[in-house]
Amino acid sequence: MPKLCNLYSPTAANIKLCANLLRGGDVVGVPTETVYGLAGNALSHDCAHKIFNVKGRPLIDPLIVHFADTAAAKIHIVNNDAIDKLAAVFWPGPLTMVVGKRASIPDLITAGLPSVAIRVPQHPVFRKLLQQVDFPLAAPSANPFGYVSPTLASHVQRTLGNKIKAILDGGPCNFGLESTIVDLRDPARPAILRHGPITQEQLSQALDQLVADHSFTAGENQAQSAPGQLSKHYSPNAQVQLLSAEEIKTTTPPDSHCAHIWLSKPCSQDITPHIYWLSESSALDEIAHNLFELIQRLDQQGYSTLKIEFAPEIGIGQAINDRLRRAAAK
Ligand code: TXA
Ligand code: MG
Repeated sequence: MPKLCNLYSPTAANIKLCANLLRGGDVVGVPTETVYGLAGNALSHDCAHKIFNVKGRPLIDPLIVHFADTAAAKIHIVNNDAIDKLAAVFWPGPLTMVVGKRASIPDLITAGLPSVAIRVPQHPVFRKLLQQVDFPLAAPSANPFGYVSPTLASHVQRTLGNKIKAILDGGPCNFGLESTIVDLRDPARPAILRHGPITQEQLSQALDQLVADHSFTAGENQAQSAPGQLSKHYSPNAQVQLLSAEEIKTTTPPDSHCAHIWLSKPCSQDITPHIYWLSESSALDEIAHNLFELIQRLDQQGYSTLKIEFAPEIGIGQAINDRLRRAAAK
């Protein structure tokens, strides 16, 4: 059994220890408000290589670069008005912008693209870490390529803990889904590349302009394709089937091979073994927060099939369904 790295509580001393590891060229598991990330020096070609290796990620999939603040990001990008507007409203927070890059960002980070994905995160522990190093941090989600994203430090430890030296434990991720990605290369034609906690309506309102939805088509454009756009992604070992609220009530009853996952707590006469639920309140943000944790837990318990109720296509429900469809893709 290979040795798994330690989880470090986010004390000042442990954040300093992780900053030192990062300065020395190591990669570290870090909490963010969306999902856990696998962070390394974004200005170092070698660190970028390490990130791809640890994740088992193909080099054609570019990484998101995280900054302590908007001013730090601007040094490395080609700025435009749309970036300023969205940064003022949504940063720090769960929004990633794809923008023109400068030469300071290594080509390996962006898979050779002339654009870079950037984000100023909100999580206090990640922010402290970013403030302690004098370089931005590249961080993909800290899962093996293709698997469900981690929302607990223990998820990172279980799946990548034999390949890295440290994981900062910042508790469960608040949003539980990866950031929204918006393409702002051409400020006149903003487009969503990946749905997430910041919705299309919120972006359109902040820009006073309709933001297009390219989340389904981005994969066809090879140069801009995102692994988030690969149809099979975020997949547990168990087979995932998506059902409507009506279907999940009437399909074959669950058993020790097949778990049922409802969006909200069933009434007491409907609760039987192997039925699980994503929320007490049926609030979509609670469902998003719990989704990846429940999928990983049931996957660990050895169910071979997960039948999951899909969410209403409103607000963050779009991002929830996007992840569910990818988890269900063969
Ligand atoms: O919430 C998040 O965004 C998390 C946390 C750790 O920040 N990170 C994350 O990274 O989800 P990752 O690597 O799992 O997903 C990044 C997505 C990929 O789909 C990638 O293709 C896309 O961002 N991306 C990165 N650079 C891009 C670019 N220049 N153009 C288009 N898509 C890009
Ligand atoms: Mg990912």
